[in-house]
Amino acid sequence: MEDFKNQVREAAAHIGRGLDTQPEIGIILGTGLGGIAEALDETSDFLYETIPYFPVSTVVSHRGRLLCGNLSGKRIIAMQGRFHLYEGYSARQIAFPIRVMRELGVRLLILSNAAGGLNPLFRAGDLMLITDHINLTGHNPLLGPNVDEWGPRFPEMVEPYSRRLQEMAVRTALAEGILLHRGVFAGVLGPNLETAAETRFLRAIGADAVGMSTVTEVITAVHAGIEVLAISAVTNVNLPDCYQPASVEEIIATAESTGPKLVHLFRRILEAI
Ligand code: HPA
Repeated sequence: MEDFKNQVREAAAHIGRGLDTQPEIGIILGTGLGGIAEALDETSDFLYETIPYFPVSTVVSHRGRLLCGNLSGKRIIAMQGRFHLYEGYSARQIAFPIRVMRELGVRLLILSNAAGGLNPLFRAGDLMLITDHINLTGHNPLLGPNVDEWGPRFPEMVEPYSRRLQEMAVRTALAEGILLHRGVFAGVLGPNLETAAETRFLRAIGADAVGMSTVTEVITAVHAGIEVLAISAVTNVNLPDCYQPASVEEIIATAESTGPKLVHLFRRILEAI
């Protein structure tokens, strides 16, 4: 654990040396939901591979970067390129960037993801504010010795998604005329999509959407005392009794077409924060 702690410190110190001011808000955008890079002013960026101990993207064509700049008057640090358990990263590796953000001063984290809709009222292209989650990944970023200065051994999960930020998001969406569902997100390991029986199970246990990211990052953030806001872009809707194949191409295409709406909403929410 001493090693991990020192690695986080070293990575944060490296990034900190390249910045004039401390970032206050972290952003992690999901598959196809980029577009934040163009929106950021005065960006400085750090290729993941140049940051000491930072996990490196497995896909050569996707060189991950940390972007730092201003958005809606707030100092932002954003991950362009995220790590998933199904790629073979450990939960602890996925936690690493969040720990680094916290070390740099981040107190608030905004996340998005592409998700399969389970609630029959949802349509592809809709947005869902995550009000709670169910961690079904079988992994946990807090396994192993606890770093007490980072957070408690047994962190509370009463309100992982900040009620304050949820209210802000709902109010902002309403003012902007954007439909924003609210619901529970089930985090699964992937990489395969769900069977019809698994979809029925997920619905039965109270999930409204399912995806392969976010829960590991959110558990880390909550442990670290970071306030969290997360929104899913519903890329497909899975109804077990008339189950249709969801093609990955369609999922990515829907995420890409939903991206601008989500980035717009995030910008407005950031203004209100
Ligand atoms: N299942 C899991 N993850 C997903 C889905 C899905 O249907 N759509 C987008 N991410």
